[in-house]
Amino acid sequence: MKKPVDLSAAYQPKEFSFRDEAKVSEIISRYPAGKQRSAIMPLLDLAQRQVAEDGAVATPPYGGWIPLAAMDKIAAIVDVPPVKVYEVATFYSMYNLEPVGKYLVQMCTTTPCMLCGSGDVVKTCESQLGIHAGETTRDGMFTLMEVECLGACVNAPMVQINDDYYEDLTPESMKQILSDLQEGRDVLVGSQNGRNASMALSGTTTLVDQADKLGIKKAV
Ligand code: FES
Repeated sequence: MKKPVDLSAAYQPKEFSFRDEAKVSEIISRYPAGKQRSAIMPLLDLAQRQVAEDGAVATPPYGGWIPLAAMDKIAAIVDVPPVKVYEVATFYSMYNLEPVGKYLVQMCTTTPCMLCGSGDVVKTCESQLGIHAGETTRDGMFTLMEVECLGACVNAPMVQINDDYYEDLTPESMKQILSDLQEGRDVLVGSQNGRNASMALSGTTTLVDQADKLGIKKAV
């Protein structure tokens, strides 16, 4: 469950404005006249990404989150009472309403991931970063979050870090991913065991002719 927004927290900026006003107009133009409120969700996402861009070059770094001032700005832009924006932002878990680390590690612990070893993946994240779910490392680099199913159960266990999925995890591969991020190295996104998309580990089992034509090989 999401934490309530802390309206008086010191980290809340007094003001917020969108840098890319053309993008704001383009988002609003996607919807019919009089239905600007439909733009609330993409505008929240745009605000969160703008904050993440700023955070990526800040010292210490931070990730994308949505200040109260940004929600108020969006309410003014789409001409609705601010509470209409708060209702959306507080409902969806993809909107962060307080500062997070540069890398937001969302660890799925729902049943398929749990049965495939997410408990060990969580323990690895916690021991490697020295924090627990809901906490941020002191250097501002990582926030750990436990989440419900992220829709990649076929490749369980998995985590989402910012916009990317990391799948078929083991404690060893999870440790490698975190080490690579800590050291600024390139990371392998997606399946960590060579699986092609969500294909069976034994290789193609259906539409074999088409797979051959497309040059899709067996995963292992
Ligand atoms: S249970 Fe983890 S992705 Fe669905």
